[in-house]
Amino acid sequence: MSQPHTDPPDLRVYPDAAALANAAAGVFVEAAQHAVATHGRFYVALSGGSTPRALFQLLAAAPYREAVAWGHTMVFWGDERCVPPDHPDSNYRMAREALLAHVPIPHDHVFRMPGEATDPATGAALYEQTVRRAFALGPHEDPRFDLVLLGMGPDGHTASLFPHTAALHVTDRLVVANRVDKLDATRLTLTARVINNAALVAFLIAGSDKAEPLAGVLEGPRRPDELPSQLIAPTHGHLLWLVDHAAAARLTAHSG
Ligand code: 6PG
Repeated sequence: MSQPHTDPPDLRVYPDAAALANAAAGVFVEAAQHAVATHGRFYVALSGGSTPRALFQLLAAAPYREAVAWGHTMVFWGDERCVPPDHPDSNYRMAREALLAHVPIPHDHVFRMPGEATDPATGAALYEQTVRRAFALGPHEDPRFDLVLLGMGPDGHTASLFPHTAALHVTDRLVVANRVDKLDATRLTLTARVINNAALVAFLIAGSDKAEPLAGVLEGPRRPDELPSQLIAPTHGHLLWLVDHAAAARLTAHSG
């Protein structure tokens, strides 16, 4: 378990979801350019849900589209629903429709989580091997994403690290299948271990339904089983909170 975050969070508040998406696009481009300049590739894990759609649509068009070296970009996912890639709930489908179909990224640079796997645990193990191979890791090395994008649910979950689920306590894997009883579903998710090894983790959080959990995560007592987003504390990287005004409404420094 990573150490609790002690210094004040790098929290950036924007008037609305559109301004948030624009700011996130700037962060994405900067991370991509820095990564390619320093080690020739940009390894990014995309988040799912609905918030990132606006970001992806911005990245698929000028000026951001031309600012990313898509030929040097390697795209992964932070989590995936256990559905086929063409299912309406698929995080991959959303990213493909909003972004990947519109940019010149090589097909073999897109590493989809196998949500369609009949056995999610096998799918998770396969994806872990896919990640290790794509990063060309040694047997005891962990992948260091240049950027991990995350969202946060109204219950404080992130990726598919949901409250009171087994994945919260997994420290010996990079990817797991996580049973989420309240959804009556199983999800594939990166573990906190690999997210916290990233150079940059950026939460994108918008909407009034996130105000209470965000205040709990950032200003409340440390209780990661209830608020799994509190597990995210990069060990040697930077954590960035990009939020809109509605989501920041319950924060003491930004209320009103
Ligand atoms: C998913 C996501 C999940 C998401 C949050 C926020 O697969 O649903 O990865 O962690 O980021 O639930 O979702 P919204 O952006 O739709 O509020």
